[in-house]
Amino acid sequence: MGYILFFCRRKLYKSHAVKDTVRVDMVSLWYVLSLLTFLSLEASGTNPGVQMRITQKGLEYEREISIVPLQEKLKTIYIPDMSGKAEVLVMDVSYTVSDMRIQEVDLLSSSVGLVPGTGVSLSINNAYIGLNGNWKVEYLFVDDDGWFSLYIGGLSVSATIGVNNDGQGRPSVYAAHCTASIGRVEITLHGGLSWLYQLFDSYINSAVLNALQPQICNLVIEAINSLNPHLRTLNVLAQVDKYAEIDYSMVGSPFVSYSGIDLGLKGEFYNIGWHQEPPFSPTPFSLPAEDSKMMYIALSAFTMNSAGFVYNKAGVLYLYITDDMIPSGSPYRLDTKTFGVFIPEIAKQYPGLKMKLLVRAAKEPNISFEPNNMTMQASGTVTAYAIQPNATLSPLFILNMNASVSALIYVSGLKVAGNVTLNKINMTLGTSYVGPIQVELLNNVLRTVLNFAVIPKVNALLKQGYPLPAIGQMNLRNTQLQILKDYVLIGTDVQFLGLELPDVL
Ligand SMILES: *[C@@H]1O[C@H](CO)[C@@H](O)[C@H](O)[C@H]1NC(C)=O
Ligand SMILES: *[C@@H]1O[C@H](CO)[C@@H](O)[C@H](O)[C@H]1NC(C)=O
Ligand SMILES: *[C@@H]1O[C@H](CO)[C@@H](O)[C@H](O)[C@H]1NC(C)=O
Ligand SMILES: *[C@@H]1O[C@H](CO)[C@@H](O)[C@H](O)[C@H]1NC(C)=O
Ligand SMILES: *[C@@H]1O[C@H](CO)[C@@H](O)[C@H](O)[C@H]1NC(C)=O
Ligand SMILES: *[C@@H]1O[C@H](CO)[C@@H](O)[C@H](O)[C@H]1NC(C)=O
Repeated sequence: MGYILFFCRRKLYKSHAVKDTVRVDMVSLWYVLSLLTFLSLEASGTNPGVQMRITQKGLEYEREISIVPLQEKLKTIYIPDMSGKAEVLVMDVSYTVSDMRIQEVDLLSSSVGLVPGTGVSLSINNAYIGLNGNWKVEYLFVDDDGWFSLYIGGLSVSATIGVNNDGQGRPSVYAAHCTASIGRVEITLHGGLSWLYQLFDSYINSAVLNALQPQICNLVIEAINSLNPHLRTLNVLAQVDKYAEIDYSMVGSPFVSYSGIDLGLKGEFYNIGWHQEPPFSPTPFSLPAEDSKMMYIALSAFTMNSAGFVYNKAGVLYLYITDDMIPSGSPYRLDTKTFGVFIPEIAKQYPGLKMKLLVRAAKEPNISFEPNNMTMQASGTVTAYAIQPNATLSPLFILNMNASVSALIYVSGLKVAGNVTLNKINMTLGTSYVGPIQVELLNNVLRTVLNFAVIPKVNALLKQGYPLPAIGQMNLRNTQLQILKDYVLIGTDVQFLGLELPDVL
């Protein structure tokens, strides 16, 4: 590190002599600064819970939607009026060119590419600018005027867009480099005598180009910076419901490789306004080398488990079950008659009563991802009551239960949602108020009750989903989801809505 700083200082020192290297030195300074940020965040050991990758295909889409606005921006280049004296064919000529307006800009051929370690390269080749203006000359006591059109062809722009963390956990971009060059100029004069071409070729064309050329990069840099308000819309704190929010702020700097731009996001659920860390942390994981979609979002088991931690802390992981929640087709009812078959003491002490169950999580559920398999282990208690005619609840027994649930996960809109199916349950007796109980006998009846009353409630909640990280008004298309070891990978194309593209005439 010391070496890099030293190297940079030497270059900065040199730059006093050579003006042209100043920009290069700014770039290396940026680079060193972002490297420092990256290293310090790495050193703090924050692993992301969610990773987002923007691929070359994603950049192509971004280029497609950005090029028309850039084209429009270039049309706003302002070229000031110019006047001067020149000697043409041994005559002294005073000239004025005025009202120069860009009529046409065509950036038909542009391309983007990944620049490992920095960001994105943008090149525009063979573009042209067409402008019109008025001319006026005075020579030998003669005044003459007319208009002209200037075709500026072979225009190329080469820019590098750096990607950064804006310090507030959102991605930001900056222009790391930009050069613009112009190939050829053709002038067509309307009115006047043919020797005026010589006046333009010798004096005016190059003055116009000198006024125009530096503005091209200025506008490209402006266009690059104008992406930042859009990037700032990353939902760094996404509200899920009245209990939970997800922190999607970036941890560390973006990592750019030939596979794409990788953003590590915290991906952690928190209780709203009360950010307490769970007793577990994200394990590092890396994305597979896939790039057929514009974007990949990897959600780790950590993210899901932080949700379990939050809801458990919020004290909402419980459910009362009553008989009216059990459909009429069920072989079992939630009453002392049914349970009396397995535990005769219940039928004896509490004849003819309805029952109520309280199912409550004992700790946060644990979600794990194995290839093509998402399972959740939940442990909790089941407390059974008889409902007295005066509505008093008389406790019957408490069971400890471990349940294994397999989950299906899917993307719906900008949310990830799920659906679970009960696999297995294991139960042991916690407390009995009705004498000895053979817990195995209750297995079927409790399984049925869970399937009829608990699973549909859980699924109704999971169906509401939780927000994915998103930028702007993003729509997902061609979305595919794979469950891999320790994370679920969402590969998707995107479409931005509400981006107003100017009318192209
Ligand atoms: C979840 O279960 C896995 C094994 O399936 C275990 O390695 C991990 O420590 C558990 N996580 C928590 C938070 O209990
Ligand atoms: C999924 O994984 C769980 C444990 O991790 C295992 O019990 C179950 O059999 C697996 N299911 C499939 C379909 O592989
Ligand atoms: C409700 O009824 C039960 C059983 O008949 C009785 O033990 C209990 O005291 C009653 N409670 C109230 C509040 O009346
Ligand atoms: C239930 O117990 C069996 C045997 O002890 C074990 O293999 C299984 O993983 C347990 N299942 C659950 C859901 O805890
Ligand atoms: C969700 O799971 C339930 C069972 O747990 C099943 O009946 C239902 O068909 C599933 N729904 C979907 C959309 O997979
Ligand atoms: C549930 O699993 C835990 C370990 O994960 C074990 O200590 C406990 O005995 C299990 N309870 C039941 C009811 O199987």
